[in-house]
Amino acid sequence: MNEFPDVLGNFWHAVATSDSVESEIFSVRLLHNDYVLWRTPDGQIVAALDSCTHRQAPLSKGTLEDGCLRCPYHGWLFGDEGHCLEVPSASEGLPIPPKANLKSLHVEEK
Ligand code: FES
Repeated sequence: MNEFPDVLGNFWHAVATSDSVESEIFSVRLLHNDYVLWRTPDGQIVAALDSCTHRQAPLSKGTLEDGCLRCPYHGWLFGDEGHCLEVPSASEGLPIPPKANLKSLHVEEK
């Protein structure tokens, strides 16, 4: 449970150095929430809650595949801005519902 007032979530928080999110999955705990960060091939950093939209597995335990994050549990694949790109168990051609996407956070790299 988040014990911090919501107002703290409205501020920027420094959570990582640029090089710590270079080629590996980065996890951080901030204001009693766990987050996962990774860098896509075009250099964008994606930040989201460290919880898969499927069954809440910790995404920070997953693997990177060409800049996309693969969930360690059922293998859903997340790309730019946390969009779900692949659900391995789904029938071919079945659209991925928007609720499968991660809610990515604003990231500034300075
Ligand atoms: S918990 Fe992540 S794909 Fe199922």
